[in-house]
Amino acid sequence: MKVKSKISVIPAKRSASRDPALKTLATYKNLGFPASQAQLRMATYKILLFLLLVSLINLAHASELIDRPLLPTHIDLHDSASLQRGARNFMNYCAGCHSLQNITYLQMAERIKLYNSDHEIYIDLLEENLIFTGAAPTDPIYSAMTNAQAESWFGAPAPDLSLIVRERSADWVYTYLNSFYADPNRPFGDNNLLLRNTAMPNVLFNLQGEQDIIYQSDKSGNISHLVMLGNGHMTPEQFQQFTRDTVNFLAALSAPPRPHKIELGFWLVCGFGLIFLLIFLIYGKIPARNIS
Ligand code: HEC
Repeated sequence: MKVKSKISVIPAKRSASRDPALKTLATYKNLGFPASQAQLRMATYKILLFLLLVSLINLAHASELIDRPLLPTHIDLHDSASLQRGARNFMNYCAGCHSLQNITYLQMAERIKLYNSDHEIYIDLLEENLIFTGAAPTDPIYSAMTNAQAESWFGAPAPDLSLIVRERSADWVYTYLNSFYADPNRPFGDNNLLLRNTAMPNVLFNLQGEQDIIYQSDKSGNISHLVMLGNGHMTPEQFQQFTRDTVNFLAALSAPPRPHKIELGFWLVCGFGLIFLLIFLIYGKIPARNIS
């Protein structure tokens, strides 16, 4: 069948600005693909079908938040060694999938106190140990993986973690990292007690070792516990410290640097006070205008 050119099939009274279908058509036209209305309708059906399928797949992958008692983290935002270990952990084990878009590498270095006594950032340490993507220190911390890739590989995007501790709490993230267990029914062979059917694979498996789930019934119903099946490269204490450091680092990013804010507020108030004083003095010097 001969495809009619776009111009000949559009009734004159339809306007592209009001009709989304025609807008799409206009886009086709700009790309040099004149499309008929039948083609366009077909394309719309395909898009709708695609969206339906995507939402069904997402439903199948939907993770579920479980309300459970959280493990206490005991993080310390002033412990610069812990913050720096946490940054190293993040860059080695999380940055492949998760971004920290709200901050640049330089700002991160500042938050983890990677500077000398004159407050000068150790740029060489930063570049050698914490930047693996060839990014500049002034670039935001993007992950190597795009959201679309994460969705197609894991069924869900790996969320940006810049503010995760503010959203969920430090104890939540710590408990999450310590709550992966073996589950042969899941695509990657593991599940999470806190975020059931999580799309995140157990990336710390080698360090922690495998955990198994034990279901125990008591008065309040079924309660599940995790037990270690075998050790990983780390002892349980080392692994707890590893995850605590990582959470400490994420907490330092989530918390606005408080002393800095107070200092800024102080200077702002001083600035406004000065402006007010100047206006007051100048006002006193201006002779009253004789209106009549
Ligand atoms: C292989 C890719 C990958 C790696 C590596 C990875 N994650 Fe994830 N992560 C994901 C995906 C995908 C999700 C989304 C899970 C979901 O919604 O079911 C996720 C979810 C999370 C969440 C839950 C966010 C929320 O509020 O639901 C946290 C916290 C998290 N990751 C922390 C980490 C930390 C810390 C590391 C490094 C130790 C890490 N992740 C490494 C893929 C990854």
